[in-house]
Parts: sequence; structure tokens; C-alpha cells
Amino acid sequence: MKLVDRHEVLKSSSSERYLGANIFKSILFQQPLNLASSEPSKLLLLLRQQNIRTPWWDGSVIYGSNEEVLNKVRTFKDGKIKISKEGHLLHNKDGTTISGDIRNSWVGVTTLQTLFVLEHNAVCDTLKKHYPELEDEDLYRHARLVTSAVIAKIHTIDWTVELLKTDTLLAGMHANWYGLLGKKFKDTFGHVGNAILGGFVGMKKSENHGVPYSLTEEFATVYRMHPLLPDSLHLRDISASPGQNKSPPLIKEIPMNDLIGLKGEKTLLEIGVAKQLVSMGHQACGALELWNYPSWLRDLVPHNIDGTERYEHVDLAALEIYRDRERNVARYNQFRRGLLMIPISKWEDLTDDTEVIEVLEEVYGDDVEELDVLVGLMAEKKIKGFAISETAFTIFLLMASRRLEADRFFTSNYNEETYTKKGLEWVNTTESLKDVIDRHYPEMTHKWLNSTSVFSVWDSPPNKHNPIPIYFRVPN
Ligand code: HEM
Repeated sequence: MKLVDRHEVLKSSSSERYLGANIFKSILFQQPLNLASSEPSKLLLLLRQQNIRTPWWDGSVIYGSNEEVLNKVRTFKDGKIKISKEGHLLHNKDGTTISGDIRNSWVGVTTLQTLFVLEHNAVCDTLKKHYPELEDEDLYRHARLVTSAVIAKIHTIDWTVELLKTDTLLAGMHANWYGLLGKKFKDTFGHVGNAILGGFVGMKKSENHGVPYSLTEEFATVYRMHPLLPDSLHLRDISASPGQNKSPPLIKEIPMNDLIGLKGEKTLLEIGVAKQLVSMGHQACGALELWNYPSWLRDLVPHNIDGTERYEHVDLAALEIYRDRERNVARYNQFRRGLLMIPISKWEDLTDDTEVIEVLEEVYGDDVEELDVLVGLMAEKKIKGFAISETAFTIFLLMASRRLEADRFFTSNYNEETYTKKGLEWVNTTESLKDVIDRHYPEMTHKWLNSTSVFSVWDSPPNKHNPIPIYFRVPN
């Protein structure tokens, strides 16, 4: 059966501006089912969209999800991935980046892709030094495993912890990777006991709880975090001398429209990756709240799958609500019931903000069951220390754990035989994104990072030392 790319459907549409009609028609034209049928169940099936990307946590944003891209990014020498002498990703003739996933990208993503290509190539160098008999294909595959595991680890014990800044989460995420026995114990004795004691990583057997693993539609929904994006990038001068809080002087503000797509790629070549990295580090992201959606995303030129630009502009804010409805993602209350969470019975259960309540009444009347999940997630009163809602958090927690425990490369195959001794050592000794940045841009964090994690705003104070071990702290 031909795969329906949910993004291709817009491309194949006629010049009509009505998104719903376009999508429906083009899905019909691409599906080999009985197109004459108008039974509701079949129509629903037609509307179900299939993914064309790998749903695993496997670094496909760097390596690609299909053979063509997988081959295109490789040098086929010593296992390495293509990168220029100046440390930039290479580009196709049409200006698009040669990388794993380039659709709807911006310089921030290209910067991280570049960083992890450098990481991959550095792993190749180390493996080649210790195992000279390994050929290109072996080096590539092992380095890919190691780099993907480094990304997964950073996601688990560095990024998620910053997003949900409480000791409870810090403990929970560390327990997912290292178990209650902790890093020191695991480094010395390996994985001991069950997932609780030893963590998911290194478990003898993977566990998918009877459901083939996949990032769920609900996860994509709660990860619709476009309000995190700013209106402009504050470009910093990294050649200056660091002051008290290691805050580099502001050079200028660059509007986000100059940093996305093909234009963005040109801008990044001028800025340079190190300056972009430090500038992003010093800028706070937007709050995940109502009325904080970036205006520039409401008139956006979206991309085709190959990263080329489309002719139709979209209002991404509206499209996101549309997508959830189109995909039959449950509305807010039903979504919560599915997670065994208490639904709301009145708007006041959701928020104390009277202005928000007024607008919700205007849009949905008294019918709280109609509330779209994305609107609910943004309106929901946040738990102290959490950047995201409790509803989104529950999905995060489930997926963050399942992603590790269902994957054999983090469980039954998390061993020296699969990764090599040096490869496993690389993962086990990398604790944060800071470690990766330090390897490839050695000056940058030393000079410009004041905070503990690179996911905090860099000139904010470092975490105070807490002598109480994380598993013994009173929940805050
Ligand atoms: C310049 C930056 C970005 C641009 C231009 C952009 C643009 C887009 C576009 C055009 C879509 C597809 C809409 C559709 O046709 O369904 C999309 C989907 C999405 N975006 Fe972004 N986005 C950006 C950054 C982000 C960020 C920072 C996050 C989260 C942290 C994010 C999360 C998502 C998610 C979860 C989806 C839905 C994916 C799916 O349907 O499976 N995006 N974005």
C-alpha cells in the first residue's frame, strides 16, 4: 500500500484555499481503498494518516529515515557523516541542507544537527583508533548507536529535568536511566535488579507491555510547543570578554523569518555555529500559555518533504487545532479521562485567569467537553516548577519511560558486544549537552555558561549545592 505522507497531501492539492477540502480530496486520491465508499468507518480510515518517519528514538533527524537520505549524509569513509571544513552542514544545489530531517527547519535545528554530526564523527575517530580492523560500515553503525544513545540520555536526564524543574522529576528521570541504586553503583556493578533498582537502561529484556512501540499521536499533540519559539533571535558577541554573569553583549535582533528555511541556512553560514549556539543559550524560550503564539508562525511558508518551500502560506496556530481534530485526538476532557485524570466540569477548574475564562466561554459556551486539547494544555494552571501542563506531563512521563524500556538498544543490547567497549564508555561518561558542546566548541561553555545545565538560560545562577541525595529530598 502506498504510504500517505500527511504533509504531501497539501502539495497535491489544487489551488483551492480550503484546507479541509484539499486534504480530504488528496488523501482519497492516494489511497488504494474503495474510493466510492462513503461509509463513515471507511472514511475515517482514509483520514487516518500514516507516518513516513521512523517512530524510534534513533537520531533520524541527523541520519535520515529512508535509504536515500541515509546514503546522502554519509561520506562512506571511516564511518563519517558529511560536514564542511568550516564546520557547517553541506547544502544541495537548491540551498536545502544535506541532513536527516530538514523539513520546516530553522537555524536552531541545523545548529544541533551540526553538533551531533561532529559528535558522530568524533565517535568514529575513537572507534577507529581502538579498533583499526573496523571498516566504514561498522564504524558508521556503531557511531550511530552511540550518538543516538547520547541524545536519548541528554533527553532523559538533562532536557526533561529542566523542563519540569523539580527535585521529584530530577530523581524520576535519573532513576529511569540509572535506577534507584544510582550512577556510581551502576558504573561499578552494571545493571542490577529490576527497572526500579537498576533503571530501564541495561535491563535484560525489552518490555513493550504488549503494544508495539511507537511515539503516539497524543505525544505529538502535547509536543506542539510552538509558543516556545521567540519572535527574534538575540545575536550575541562571543568575541567579547565575559562579565559577571557571563552574559555576552547583544549585537542585534534577527527576526525569525530570516532564520527559517532556505533563508535561515544562508543566515547561519554568516553567523557561524558557535555564535548561534551561545546566542540561543542566552535567550529564554516563550511560555507555553495562551496568547503567546508567535505571530510569524501564523503566516508561514511550510516545506515539502525535501525541504523546498510551498507556495501556500499556513496559519500554523489554526492548523494545529485542525490537525488534532482531523486525527481524532480526544478533546481535553476525554484526553484526561484516558489518562485516568479528573476531567474539568467548569472553566474555573482549568484556570484562575478570568480573562481566559471569559474567552473560553465566548468560544465554547458552557460546553467544557468541546475544549480542544491544545487550548486546554496552554490554559491549564501549571504545577510550580513545570514549564508544561500536568496533562502533558503525564504523557511525557509515559513516553519517556516506554521509549527506553521498549528499545532493545537501551535494554537487552545495551552492552559492549553491541556498542563496543569504547562506545559504551562514551555513552556512560556523557552526562549532558554541556559535555557534548565542550567536546566540539571547547571555549564556549567555559566562557559563557554560568548556569548548571545548557538548557537553562546561560547567565542564570548555577543550581545551589544540595547535600541531600536526590532520592531523599522532600518533594517541592
Ligand atoms: C522555526 C521553527 C518551527 C517551524 C517553522 C515549525 C513548523 C511546523 C509545521 C509547518 C508543522 C506541520 C504542520 C502540519 O502540516 O501539520 C509542524 C508540526 C509540528 N511541530 Fe513544529 N515548527 C517549528 C518548531 C517546533 C518546535 C520548537 C516544536 C516543539 C518543541 C515543534 C513541534 C511540532 C510538533 C509536535 C508538530 C506535529 C508533528 C506531527 O504532526 O507529527 N515545532 N511544525
